[in-house]
Amino acid sequence: MNVIDTVAEVRAKLLGPRRAGQRIGLVPTMGAFHEGHLSLMRRARAECDLVVVSLFVNPAQFNDAGDLDAYPRDPERDAALAAELGVDYLFAPAVEEIYPPGFATTVSVAGVTETLEGVHRGRAHFDAVATVVTKLFNIISPDVAYFGQKDAQQAIVIQRFVRDLDIPVAIEVCPTVREADGLAMSSRNTHLSPADRERAAALHRALAAVQAAVRAGERDPGAAREAALAELARADIKPDYVELVSADKLVPLSRIDRDVLAVLAARVGDTRLIDNQPIQAPEAGANGNGRP
Ligand code: PAJ
Repeated sequence: MNVIDTVAEVRAKLLGPRRAGQRIGLVPTMGAFHEGHLSLMRRARAECDLVVVSLFVNPAQFNDAGDLDAYPRDPERDAALAAELGVDYLFAPAVEEIYPPGFATTVSVAGVTETLEGVHRGRAHFDAVATVVTKLFNIISPDVAYFGQKDAQQAIVIQRFVRDLDIPVAIEVCPTVREADGLAMSSRNTHLSPADRERAAALHRALAAVQAAVRAGERDPGAAREAALAELARADIKPDYVELVSADKLVPLSRIDRDVLAVLAARVGDTRLIDNQPIQAPEAGANGNGRP
């Protein structure tokens, strides 16, 4: 595996393979790899001729400087893990390579950035993600790029601007990888104290409770939401939000009659965690009107 830190070099390396018709897969990351990241790389390795992983802790998408400073970094371990998985290129640019002096452009997505995390972190967070991912797409020109369902809203924002800006890349969204007790893997989990780590498993139990309620026939989002709130309360967790929204546009539902996403965010100790659970549309007949 090659580690590359400049735009010019990674472009030069990819020119030949692209001309030869190789399928290029990109996995954008901020490093501190865990099984969630590795699952995306394995999928890319299985589906592409050439795999590029980008490692760039994007300062623009952090809400405060403290969060950015505290973000876990271990580039040597990351490079070793990526090499082990058969990644071809690790693109790890410095901040000035991505944001040279005079940088003045933002890709700003309306609508899907204005709910959920957009309310709590600000739309600017998603604008910063959209901008850096657009740059990565322009630098690498991948045929396909892999993202995690863990960050469901981020994946929807990316699908939106790719369609709107006619960027020729296929977006694959891969399932959330979890710890044994259900906690979604996240670089931020390392910040949890042992006691908070245990409490954090309640986030997944809360989402599982919503899923169980829907499977048992619950069609009222408010009632399904109560099941989640009860699980969180048992662990003494006060969420920023727990919502049932449409799986495609993330809009609140008045009735559970299509594919939904149960989403939540909560601070556990000092660490803010997010998670979600896609829930398939209730079976025909289960909603009483005989329609699928
Ligand atoms: P990062 O948090 O490093 O995540 C990189 C990719 O891994 C994202 O697509 C994320 O959804 C996915 N991921 C994280 N945890 C996962 C899990 N438990 N299971 C499956 N996939 C998981 O997301 C970012 O970086 C940045 O915003 C980025 C897209 C790189 C832009 O800066």
